[in-house]
This record gives sequence, structure tokens and C-alpha cells, in this order.
Amino acid sequence: MATIVVNDIEVEVGAKENLVQAAQRAGIEIPHYCWHPSLSVVASCRMCLVEVGEKSHDGTITMLPRLMPACQTAARSNIVVRTNTEKVKKAQSQTLEYLLLNHPLDCSICDQAGECYLQDYTYKFGNAQSRLNEPKVQRLDKYHIGQQIALFTDRCVMCTRCVRFTREISGTSELQVVNRGSVEEIDVFPGNPCDNKLAGNVVDLCPVGALCSKDFLYKKRVWWLKTQNSVCQGCSTGCSIHIDQEKDRLYRLRPRENPLAQGSFMCDDGRFGWKYIESGNRLLAPRIGRLRDVKSTGERSSARELAATNMSGSHWSGSSSVQQVAAESSNEHIAVNELSRTDPWPATLDATRHAIDQIVAKSPERFVAVLSPMMFCEEAFLLAKYFESLSQKIMLALGPVPIVGEDDLYPKRSNGSPPAAGNAKFAIRAEKCPNRLGVQWVLKHFQREVISFESVVGRLDDRSLSGIYIVGGYPGPWLDDSLLRKFEGLSTLIVQDLLISPLTDMATILLASASFVERHGTVVNYAGLAQEVHQAIRGPADVRSDGRLIFELSQRVGLYDAKAIRQEMAREIPALAGLSSELGSRGIQLLPCDEGTSVHA
Ligand code: SF4
Ligand code: SF4
Ligand code: FES
Repeated sequence: MATIVVNDIEVEVGAKENLVQAAQRAGIEIPHYCWHPSLSVVASCRMCLVEVGEKSHDGTITMLPRLMPACQTAARSNIVVRTNTEKVKKAQSQTLEYLLLNHPLDCSICDQAGECYLQDYTYKFGNAQSRLNEPKVQRLDKYHIGQQIALFTDRCVMCTRCVRFTREISGTSELQVVNRGSVEEIDVFPGNPCDNKLAGNVVDLCPVGALCSKDFLYKKRVWWLKTQNSVCQGCSTGCSIHIDQEKDRLYRLRPRENPLAQGSFMCDDGRFGWKYIESGNRLLAPRIGRLRDVKSTGERSSARELAATNMSGSHWSGSSSVQQVAAESSNEHIAVNELSRTDPWPATLDATRHAIDQIVAKSPERFVAVLSPMMFCEEAFLLAKYFESLSQKIMLALGPVPIVGEDDLYPKRSNGSPPAAGNAKFAIRAEKCPNRLGVQWVLKHFQREVISFESVVGRLDDRSLSGIYIVGGYPGPWLDDSLLRKFEGLSTLIVQDLLISPLTDMATILLASASFVERHGTVVNYAGLAQEVHQAIRGPADVRSDGRLIFELSQRVGLYDAKAIRQEMAREIPALAGLSSELGSRGIQLLPCDEGTSVHA
């Protein structure tokens, strides 16, 4: 490790670090725009200029006469860096004055305000006043630049991060610099907008308010947002993310830098794919009885469900099977008053236990529990343990593992083909679930093999089942019509799910569960990286988080605590023993477990 001196502070630096990173280790900020750790170095913005010198063996220091860009200078042994001299301060303020020459003073309406490096650096390193007397050059905004992104052209500081991203990471090269000098600007070729699947990342990369997300535009000032660390559930890559919310409403997902997961980026499927969480398709309360039976026989049930809907957050206001029932109830107002403060869960969980016990007492081999690859490890562990405690003859199976196409690798080559083997910088995986591996490890522990969903379908076909407890949690339809018909003959169909579907309508008992932003837990990605998912918002009032739901179903004493369950799981399941330590913000790599990746039909 090399040792360098930054403003008289000695720091050890890692291999291939530059002076911006070295200064960060010393707790010193060197302002920068064009440099980003995941992109090539162009040293074009000149914001990072510092004084650089060298310490010789006799201790004398020789400083270079001119300033050097810190982003382009390697941190070598004996280098001396000064970031706080008059010369450096003057360069910083002059660079900012230049960048602000034509920058509109529209912070008050700019989406980036509050997280803008032009604002922050101007406050810390800039001049208080502009000396420009002439009118500013004005440029047209470009809403056409991409389906998800808009360009506020005159806010651009020409750092070219966005251009380099589309060349070096997505490989799609849509963005470019057109013209030169005072009229240069970012643009796309006519008819070729920046619509690649990683396009949203240019919004995060843009250090100012030039590139903005259309999805988030003018929705919320960022200083009102509260941020929680989480993991994207869109595919088995498991990109680390930030969840930004206010008052239990989601506003945006952003990538969270994690070299163990996927670096600094995420794809647009994950970034914008969370809308199902606040859709009108959410299940808002549990239900006892098939939907059609409840509809035909009971105002009481329907009113209970309507009450649950009323108690829910107002933004879960779309139609649901619950609301359909309520709307068709003739006597709902009276019953709502009567029941609006009733918690529907104790009765539902009693009924669930009773339904399971009835089958298990007679023929446990005719009961199957299907665990979803969308579940967190703790939830899968609790459910498997519950069924094991009832009877070891209950079959535990893995739910459908959604596979869509093939892994989508980046950067694309100029003809659109994937990169050569070993050159991929980003992968959107074909396996569209976050925790197949973790759930498989749990199943393997309890049953010594992983029984696939096809086996369950086979048993439905030969009518050797009396009851199923099946967990969904997928963000969209997950059973096709031909499969759904196979569930029709079951006398007991307990469905734990998130969204309304024909299967939830069919359920004899419906357990309305929570989305990933409403739960705590652990997921293990395709490569065995275990990361923690933290609850970011509270879900609808009468929805139970899956962990709590199963905890209460299995009549454990106390309150559900994902961390405590994780410790218990780590003690019991050798493949997950690594989860006994703190996972930190980056997660931990669990030992590769070959058995965990094979599924036996
Ligand atoms: S649009 Fe943003 S990221 Fe692109 S060059 Fe301008 S300032 Fe940099
Ligand atoms: S690559 Fe997968 S995990 Fe990463 S953001 Fe996209 S969908 Fe989410
Ligand atoms: S960050 Fe170093 S020149 Fe732009």
C-alpha cells in the first residue's frame, strides 16, 4: 500500500486509486464532476484541480508549478497533495464561475435541488456573485431524449458522464456531444432516443439537474424523502438499492453502490418496476371462504373486508376483490359500523390452522406447502419449520421460478449483440426472482431435496392432494389458466399472496401479504451474495408482513423479529451459517453450495 500526504494528513491508499479517492480516505473532499469510479477518466471539467508535489528521501517537498487534475493523477507513494491553498481555491471558484455562466438560476423549480453538486460546490467552493453582464445562452429542453429521461439542456455542465455511460456500460451509444464551444450540448441522433434498459442510470450519474427522471419529475422535493437500504427484487442479480419514500408512499428506487452486487447501477426494469406495490390490484385484507361463496352468502364477510379497505392507506384505493365483494353487498353500511374496528387476522389464522390440522390429522402426505422464491430466507425458514412441526410427511416444494428469455448482458457491442465472455459489466438476469437460492437452501435443509413446482402439478393431476398452502408474492400473473384449473378441485387452498389473481379468488383461505418494501429479511442472489432488505414503508392496514403472518400462524411467543429469526436459521441451517454475522450494507458472500442450485423434479 502506498502512503501519501493530503493537506498534511498521511493516508494509505489502495492500488489504482486516484487523488480524489486518496483525499476521501483522509476525510477531505475534492470537488469533481466528470470523474466517476465506474467510468473512464477524461479530466475535462477541471473542477478537481489541486496542487501536487513529491517528497524526496531527505524530506524536502517539491511542488509542481501548475495545478493537476486529481481525478487523473495516480496516488503513488511520497506524493504530497494540497487542496486548501489560495491557488487551488481560486481555480475552484473560477471553474464554478465558468460553469455557472450560462446556467439558469432555476434551482427553485429544478428536480435536482437538494442533491445537486452545482449547488453544493458553489456553496462550498464558489464565488458568491457572477460577473456576467451579457444575457445567458438559452437552450431548448429535450423531452424527446428518452422515454424515461428528460434533458434540461441549459443546466448541463458538459461533464460527459452520460455520454460515457452509454458508450462504456450500456454500449448503446445513444448520447453524444453535438457542436463545440459555447454552443455544445448533449443530444441524440434523430429518431434514436436513449431508451436502453439501463437508461435511468444517466439521471443518477448527472451531477446537476440536466438529466431528470420523467417518472419522478416534480413529484417531491428530495429533502422530504426518507431513504432506506434495500435490494431490488426484479431478478436474481439482486442489485443494492435505495428506496426513497415519504409518509409511506414510494417515490423512487435508486442504485446503491455495492461492488459485491452490481457496482453503481441498476436497470430500468428494477428502477421503475415497483408500481404494482401501490396498484389497485393489491390484496387489502385476508378472507375466509372462496370469493364466489363469500359473494353469494355473506354481507358479514364482505363488510368485514370493506372495513379493512377503509382502514387502509388512502393510496391503496383501487378496485380489489375485496372491494368487488363489498360493492355487491346489500347491507354493508350497517356491518361496516359494526366491524370497522375488528382485526380480521386472529380469526383468519385460527381458520387456517384448523383447515391444515384437519388434513394433517388424517393424511399429512396429502398436504403440500409451496414456498415462493419471492420469500425472504427468514419467512421460508419459519414456514418450513411450522409444517415440519406438524408432520414430516407434509411435502415442501419450491414455487414457480420465473425465467424470461436469457440473461441480458451489457455493454452491447455495436451490432447490439452481448459482450464477449468475461467482458460483461452489467447483467439483467433471466431468473426474475430475488431469492431462489436462499429458499432452496431452506427446503434442502428440511427435506434433503428441493421438490420442484412441476412435482406439485403432477400430484394435482393425479388427484393425490387434499390441500395446499401456496405462497405467491410475484409482481404479476404467475400461474397460467391451464395450471389454475388444476387447483379447482382442492377442498383446502390456502393462498398467501400480494396481488389479486384468479388463484386468490379461488382460495378457500386468503392471506393478504406484504410487498418487499414493507418487510425485513434476507435474500441470496444467484451467486450466493446474502443481503438484507429493510422495511421502508408501512403497507395497507390489514395486510400482514409475511414473516409476522407465519410467526403468528405458528403460534410462536413474542413478536416477529427478522434478525432474531435469522440467527435461529443460521444456527440450524449449515448452508446459511454465515448469516449469523452482521451483513452490513454490502452483504456477505455465502459459501458456494452446489446442492442448492439443483432442482429435482
Ligand atoms: S447531461 Fe448531466 S451527465 Fe450529461 S454531460 Fe450534462 S451534466 Fe454531465
Ligand atoms: S438487474 Fe435485476 S436486480 Fe438489478 S435492478 Fe435490474 S431487475 Fe433489479
Ligand atoms: S473531475 Fe477531474 S477534471 Fe473533472
